[in-house]
Amino acid sequence: MKVLLVNGSPHQKGCTYTALEEVSNALNKNNIDTEIFWLGNDPMAGCIGCNICLKTGKCFRNDLVNTFLEKVPNIDGFVFGSPVHFASSSGALTSFMDRVFYGRRNLFQNKPACAIMSCRRGGASSTFDQLNKYFSMNNMPIVTSQYWNQVHGTTPQEVKKDLEGMQTLRTLGNNMAWLLKCIDIAKKSGLDYPQNEDIIKTNFIN
Ligand SMILES: Cc1cc2nc3c(=O)[nH]c(=O)nc-3n(C[C@H](O)[C@H](O)[C@H](O)COP(=O)(O)O)c2cc1C
Repeated sequence: MKVLLVNGSPHQKGCTYTALEEVSNALNKNNIDTEIFWLGNDPMAGCIGCNICLKTGKCFRNDLVNTFLEKVPNIDGFVFGSPVHFASSSGALTSFMDRVFYGRRNLFQNKPACAIMSCRRGGASSTFDQLNKYFSMNNMPIVTSQYWNQVHGTTPQEVKKDLEGMQTLRTLGNNMAWLLKCIDIAKKSGLDYPQNEDIIKTNFIN
């Protein structure tokens, strides 16, 4: 089983990476494979709502979004990590997730996910709310921990001193590993995923 951890920070080995690494180590200790996927520093375009991806399955911009989407079928769980930028996720991660999740319920449903945040001082809760919304409209079980998944600091050294934050992330990794194993056992025992109805869409015009 494998979990993909997305680093939405402009810093490849900064605070968000340090936080993701703690979750990754906990998953590895539970025999779950991991890969950290960094968004880099090239401009990340937002979704332009052209709907081409609904027909082709991939974005017309052939960038990291498509690289990520190609990995998804072989991935069992996801962690999206962001630095807090003005009480929200980084602009790059927001643009990335808008394009990754647009019209892709079938690709992501029933796969556990969670968000983690790194901030200096405040805004982690609103970022957490923002990121959880991608999972909660796509039938993805959200993995939780003993507290909200945040660490505090402006350097990796400071983050490592946030003992409660780091413990929260280790617990998160353990909880995700446990849920993945539960799902695996359920599948092997013949338990089907929920058989849900076709989606009814209303636009509140009547
Ligand atoms: C543009 C920008 C906006 C930021 N806004 C906030 C904020 O709203 N709240 C906060 O606590 N820290 C804020 N920070 C600090 C970062 O969230 C914090 O240092 C984070 O741990 C950096 O993670 P990184 O090393 O992975 O980039 C901001 C940093 C930048 C560059």
